Amino acid sequence: MPDRISQTIAFVKSKLANAEAGHDWFHIERVWKNTQLILAHENANEEVVILAALLHDIADSKFYGGDEEIGPQTAGDFLRSIGVEELAVIHITEIIRNMSFKASLGRVTFHSKELAIVQDADRLDAMGAIGIARAFHYGGFKNREIHNPAIPANPGQDKEAYKQTTAPTINHFYEKLLLLKEQMNTTTARRIADSRHAFMENFLEEFYAEWEGER
Ligand code: ADP
Ligand code: NI
Repeated sequence: MPDRISQTIAFVKSKLANAEAGHDWFHIERVWKNTQLILAHENANEEVVILAALLHDIADSKFYGGDEEIGPQTAGDFLRSIGVEELAVIHITEIIRNMSFKASLGRVTFHSKELAIVQDADRLDAMGAIGIARAFHYGGFKNREIHNPAIPANPGQDKEAYKQTTAPTINHFYEKLLLLKEQMNTTTARRIADSRHAFMENFLEEFYAEWEGER
């Protein structure tokens, strides 16, 4: 494995040592594996994709009082410290700045094939069995209700409303998880997303049936 990738892995592991389970090293590792699935069928600068995947959650604004520059800044400082060339540093920090679901609800001004791939890889990890586990984990972390039939989901909300929500975790499926399939950038990710989406739909059907005491 190239030196810069091993150095980045060591840095990310140490930075995320105490991260909550939805954004820990294993999330990063899964996103990295997802980028490999996509890169097998798409042409892109592989090192940029891998470094961006490894560094994309290095300092999530959610855990830094909403500061959206701290992630790209931390990643950029690190990449320069290991001698990554400036053009690649700029590309990777732009990917990190623009790839989140939250960012996509605001104004996105940067596009590249590499961003498209890392974004797909991260979004895939919010879908399927892993996505369900992460959502309920996050809801528990935030002390949210699992489900409350009196609180309807709000799928079209803007970035500020999305950040402020305290809605039950089931609502998150309608506000984000079930929307992800349509947002895949690459055809490879779209194919994987289709089966993860179907799994979440089956989960919800079973969930409501059990909720109503029908099964
Ligand atoms: P975001 O940009 O939406 O904050 P993240 O990638 O940081 O997305 O979210 C991390 C994980 O936590 C994802 O699996 C996501 O679906 C989940 N998550 C985010 N917000 C909520 C929420 N309000 N309820 C349940 N799960 C959530
Ligand atoms: Ni992520």
